[in-house]
Amino acid sequence: MKKVLVIHGPNLDLLGQRETDVYGISTLQDINNQLEQLAQGNKVALTFLQSNHEGNIVDAIGKAPQEGFHAILINPAAYTHTSVAIRDAVSAINIPTIEVHLSNIYAREDFRHKSLIAPVSLGQVSGFGVQSYFLGLQAIIHLLNN
Ligand code: DQA
Repeated sequence: MKKVLVIHGPNLDLLGQRETDVYGISTLQDINNQLEQLAQGNKVALTFLQSNHEGNIVDAIGKAPQEGFHAILINPAAYTHTSVAIRDAVSAINIPTIEVHLSNIYAREDFRHKSLIAPVSLGQVSGFGVQSYFLGLQAIIHLLNN
């Protein structure tokens, strides 16, 4: 069984009530439930972490290889655009990370156009709403099976 760590960054605990015109009406629990279904059908075990704290996310990424994770799916949320610490954590580990965003960060304010995480990630999916998470997880499943 392959293990995948799913990390949701700051304010994603508010999905479903937060700027629904941008992020949609699915709650984080809805998204996790649906990811779980995709994972179970593909013999992948998911562990979920949502944190509003940069250091918690850095800790989780740094420990992921020792904890037996084979890949990370992350929506770094606002930290995408600011966090050298999360970028360095992703860069430091030897397992693949895929970055996802609900919204198309390149079609929004200028400050969202730059991701510090994308250059050290295997790839990025941005702009497909909840589907961004599924496309990201599908890419990981494909990777782990090939
Ligand atoms: C986001 C995009 C970020 O710019 C923003 O800060 C978020 C959510 C997204 O999923 O579209 O919190 O990562």
